[in-house]
Amino acid sequence: MPDPSLRLAVLASGRGSNLQAIIDAIEAGTLSARIAVVISNKAEAQALERARTHGAPAVFLDPKATAPGREAYDAAILEHLRKHDVGLVALAGYMKIVTRVLLDAYPNRVMNIHPSLLPSFPGLAAQQQALDWGAKVSGCTVHFVEEGVDTGPIIRQATVPVLEGETAASLEARILAEEHRIYPEAIQLFAEGRLTVEGRRVRIT
Ligand code: GAR
Repeated sequence: MPDPSLRLAVLASGRGSNLQAIIDAIEAGTLSARIAVVISNKAEAQALERARTHGAPAVFLDPKATAPGREAYDAAILEHLRKHDVGLVALAGYMKIVTRVLLDAYPNRVMNIHPSLLPSFPGLAAQQQALDWGAKVSGCTVHFVEEGVDTGPIIRQATVPVLEGETAASLEARILAEEHRIYPEAIQLFAEGRLTVEGRRVRIT
């Protein structure tokens, strides 16, 4: 019987707690997708172990083993995505910049989660940036990926108050809990064909 569910690739560089939230949602039946492949640029990424435990293909793609340059690396990723017939690519703590090679092959089909309310605090250490700025509210954002860093059309956001005496670690933990909630939700909206990109706006029907 053909499998009707979305074939998802997750690209991750580290711990993989967002991957785990996606796996948990799939196993709980609240996300109609299957993990077609998990790819990491780090051999030691815990995300690879989580994929294996779930019974999904886990690929360490060594950046030193491909031709120099981000484009060549993305071309190697693309081979794996095609081999596994992937319909959506979810970046989950993937600490490499994605190039046109991947984005042109998957237009409006690459998502990312970022631990701030974009467009505030893009880039690294977003939680620390929010704290240093004195923000009273921060949160997380799921967005489609375009060439700029953390700039693509926003799909879903959740807010988290910045409390008195907050540390980057405590803020990170509370934001992460929201990430784990909204990322599977956003992917489910995609799986149901309910996301339409109109310029900068993502319409949810
Ligand atoms: C998450 O907080 C994610 O939002 C962030 O890295 C963490 C990965 O955690 N991503 C970025 O900062 C991307 N700009 P995880 O590996 O446990 O999912």
